[in-house]
Amino acid sequence: MQPSSINNYDPTQTKSWKELDLHFNEIKNQSLIDLFKEEPNRLAHLSFDEGNFYFDFSKNHLTKKTLSLFASLANEMGLSEAKKALFQGQKINKTENRSVLHTALRNPADRPIIVEGENIMPLVSEELKKMKDFSIQLHQGEHLGYTSKKIQNIVNIGIGGSDLGPNMVCEALKPYWIKGIQTYFVSNVDASHIDPLLQKLDPATTLFIIASKTFTTQETMTNAMTARNWFIEHASEQEIKKHFAAVSTNEEKVREFGIDLQNMFKFWDWVGGRYSLWSSIGLSIVCTVGYDNFSKLLKGAQEMDDHFMQAPFEMNAPTLMAFIGVWYNNFFKTQTQAILPYDQRLAYFSKYLQQADMESNGKSTDRNGDQVKYETGQIIWGEPGTNGQHAFYQLIHQGTKMIPCDFIAAALPAHDKMNHHDKLMANFIAQTEALMKGKDAASVKSELEQQGMSPEEIKALLPFKVFDGNRPTSTLLMDKLSPENLGGLIALYEHKIFVQGFIWNVFSFDQWGVELGKQLAGNILDEIKTGDVHQSHDDSTRKMIRKYLSHQGS
Ligand code: F6P
Repeated sequence: MQPSSINNYDPTQTKSWKELDLHFNEIKNQSLIDLFKEEPNRLAHLSFDEGNFYFDFSKNHLTKKTLSLFASLANEMGLSEAKKALFQGQKINKTENRSVLHTALRNPADRPIIVEGENIMPLVSEELKKMKDFSIQLHQGEHLGYTSKKIQNIVNIGIGGSDLGPNMVCEALKPYWIKGIQTYFVSNVDASHIDPLLQKLDPATTLFIIASKTFTTQETMTNAMTARNWFIEHASEQEIKKHFAAVSTNEEKVREFGIDLQNMFKFWDWVGGRYSLWSSIGLSIVCTVGYDNFSKLLKGAQEMDDHFMQAPFEMNAPTLMAFIGVWYNNFFKTQTQAILPYDQRLAYFSKYLQQADMESNGKSTDRNGDQVKYETGQIIWGEPGTNGQHAFYQLIHQGTKMIPCDFIAAALPAHDKMNHHDKLMANFIAQTEALMKGKDAASVKSELEQQGMSPEEIKALLPFKVFDGNRPTSTLLMDKLSPENLGGLIALYEHKIFVQGFIWNVFSFDQWGVELGKQLAGNILDEIKTGDVHQSHDDSTRKMIRKYLSHQGS
């Protein structure tokens, strides 16, 4: 049970929320530039260094008072107790009656965490050791393929949390890849994903990691079976044990599939799918970048956990990011949050965060089982800069919607081409300035005059060239995109999601909404196979199934 000081309040009915409402009316029309003018120490109040990260929240529509009102809201709702409940393994995932302990996966081995009377840290350490040994055997050529060749290709077959996290991390840590190893990720049940990959792979040098918490997910099991069939076209079934590993909580299903239990890596029901990259779901990461780098990733995350637990709300990066997100979502009524990493290695970061955030906080039933009467989860999206600048930034700069943006970059690149990196960073810095300052009519006019335009031409063009500015951004600059910093970055957003879900009074760790689609797809698949289309469908759905069937055999 939750301690009594965790309050399942409708946040909008709290005293602090009402004060935030009044405060919102006071500052909603103040421009960012005005806020800077009014508060000489604004930057000092709203930026800080934490470990290898520098956070700048000053270009946001808020003041020190906004954050202290949010801190009161968090106190009123019992955030500190909720954090303890999370870290101590209380069953805060109530609808599934589970603890939520991804933080235990990066907890130092000598700090016990007790779940149902058992210290789970030895289990965690044992699995980490197994992953370490497996990867060493692979890299040192002790674990060889069926023709005694070294494994060179790793294929992770999984979807959702069993794909997005490891895929994002492997991409982000490209400079750390072990020489001679190439890693691929297959997720979509569309065979256009796995087919071209199998065509180019050599079965003798390929290891498949079947990553699925449940080991029942339709997409993953279909792709796993295709990989298995492809493999035994080339080798005997006995050789499967050298080329297939499983990561799952479901031993029975792994055995049924025919994977040697020696090659099975466990995790536990207290690890949520979208928070699982720290567990043995990270096996593809370990095989790709080596165990040392994986343990640095864990260490970076653990340091962020400590910061989250220890720093006061006003200096607590994930908590502040959560406050800012709620501020825009519920007071400014923004709908989306852009994640803009100025680093090509973070190309999959926003995709990863889409699941982490939207599957966690895309809820409309509160923790009391009532329908919420306020907005919850934000729509997360984004692309790396500078590519995004040439695609969707126009709307961020001059569109009708306010889109809070997180700008993320590493000061030091992993390459030596500073002529590229300086340009990347100049754009990174320039965009937040441009979004805040915009361009007023007077500057546009003088610019056009300098270009020799007539007053009539200037009058016609001027409205299009004026930028209102006043668009909010948060900036995170790290020294470099190392495994430690990446771990910290991911944990930062994990905790932000936790705090937001807590304030919105929703359960962030279940995902019942994705179940209905899975169920209906199962029914429709049966109808496709038998041709017996049920009358119970609505007209539109029934016709679509029939249309699809009419193409078969053509
Ligand atoms: O999309 C729903 C979901 O349950 C995710 O939460 C999870 O990450 C994904 O499916 C994959 O599940 P599994 O690891 O069990 O195959």
